[in-house]
Amino acid sequence: MKFSSQRVALPYFVAALILFTGQIVFGLIAGYQYINGTFLFPELPFSVSRMVHTNLLIVWLLMAFMGAAYYIVPEEAQTELYSPKLALLTFWIFFLAGALTIVGYIALPYDKLAAWTGNALLPTMGRGYLEQPLPTKIGIVLVALSLLFNISMTLWKGRKTSLNMILVGSLWGLALLFLPSFYFPVDTVKASYSWWWVIHGWVEGDWELILSALLGFILIRTTGIDREIVEKWMYVIVAMTLVTGIIGIGHHYYFIGAPEYWIWLGSIFSALEPIPFIMLIVFALRILLQRRREHPNRAAMLWAIGTPLMAFLGAGLWGFMITLAPVQRLAHGTNFTAAHGHLAFFGAYAMVSLSIISYAMPLLRGRQANSESAQRWEMSGFWIMVLSMVGIALTLTGAGLVTVFLQRTGANPMAFMDVQDQARIFFILREFCGFCFLGGLLAYLYSFSIAGEYTFDRETRNALNH
Ligand code: HEM
Ligand code: HEM
Ligand SMILES: [Fe+2]
Repeated sequence: MKFSSQRVALPYFVAALILFTGQIVFGLIAGYQYINGTFLFPELPFSVSRMVHTNLLIVWLLMAFMGAAYYIVPEEAQTELYSPKLALLTFWIFFLAGALTIVGYIALPYDKLAAWTGNALLPTMGRGYLEQPLPTKIGIVLVALSLLFNISMTLWKGRKTSLNMILVGSLWGLALLFLPSFYFPVDTVKASYSWWWVIHGWVEGDWELILSALLGFILIRTTGIDREIVEKWMYVIVAMTLVTGIIGIGHHYYFIGAPEYWIWLGSIFSALEPIPFIMLIVFALRILLQRRREHPNRAAMLWAIGTPLMAFLGAGLWGFMITLAPVQRLAHGTNFTAAHGHLAFFGAYAMVSLSIISYAMPLLRGRQANSESAQRWEMSGFWIMVLSMVGIALTLTGAGLVTVFLQRTGANPMAFMDVQDQARIFFILREFCGFCFLGGLLAYLYSFSIAGEYTFDRETRNALNH
């Protein structure tokens, strides 16, 4: 850490980890409700536990991205953050508003929450991931504007590296792409368009740019490689993401009432979307192989190489499997989709967040890296979470295939709930993997409490500080 104002990243990272833990708890509740349908009913129905699970996911990822921005932008710009006070104030507003929203979801029936928060004035509530009441959505925009103002001013007065421009630019994109969430017309075709502009625009466009900027930063800092090499790769990855991802949105237009040409456009362009994920792997591997030094934070290196691999599996491979129109016709909205959603969100965005937290947290706490034993706990957490998530994805894929075969193909399609019964074993196994995941998360969190100090020789320390 080079600038004291980078310290504002700390509360963002801590909050991200707390909300992540909450997300997993609600995931386990929702998962258990698949096995025992009346669990916690009517106090916490599945619709609510699921909504809390996915909303906590979005909020903690945003927290982590913001923390990353407050950490990276000053260091890249070689200047203090424009206003650390504003960043801290923004943190508390976001954290309290987020917490209040979750309490609202749990304490109130959704229609009451909608009525009390002015949904009649401007209807925005009810679409997946964007269930937030109007005041929360406006709050998100204000928080984003505050972040953008702060980091753009920092960039303005400091060094303008390509990496920083991509990061700040993609955070502007994140905020702009949230705006269609305020457009929720009665016409379901138009409503579907604007929903996907946000969701697909984020995960298969803008956030991929954030992902490559965060990875690029970690790799530059840990390997000591020339930034020109890293930035060249980033340009190509950004370009490929946009070329494939923008028109690739067509893979969500197959069945919403859009013109037929989207079947071709969506299939062809989205089938190319794995390319930038493959490039990310090659990029990270090559940089690591050419590294100029051995960074003591081995756990951060593990996260940084694990991220592109898992992102490729979840987004690239599992996404590709369901993206061509004839396949999507059978797999649409099954647990196959949930398998892809879990592996992609975790492999790409949860893992890159945990990567930057792993790299920055020791520095924010005044040490180059955590002790060897803390890193061993952290790396065990890594492996348990990664393997459990692969388990979740495989069991959900199994459940998805049961639906495809029993409900979507064959002469006598089975009724939906009968199919669910047939897939029961997969839901039990998914829940088992979920508990293992929680174990991995706890091991990971435990590593922070025994962080300690990494001991290494003076030469390495000097090399790191250069
Ligand atoms: C990290 C990037 C990605 C993330 C986080 C992600 C996440 C998701 C999620 C959560 C859904 C479910 C949305 C819903 O609630 O209906 C979804 C749907 C879908 N994704 Fe991805 N995705 C990513 C990349 C990709 C890629 C690269 C492809 C294609 C190669 C792809 C293909 C699809 C398709 C076809 C659907 C629609 C499935 C359906 O409606 O049944 N995704 N994605
Ligand atoms: C303990 C582990 C977890 C369990 C048991 C779990 C369980 C669940 C359940 C039951 C749902 C609702 C599925 C449905 O509507 O049919 C869900 C949705 C979802 N979860 Fe998880 N989850 C876990 C971890 C995670 C993690 C780590 C992430 C991402 C980082 C994640 C991301 C999502 C997403 C994106 C959805 C919406 C998927 C879709 O609509 O297709 N979950 N999860
Ligand atoms: Fe998509």
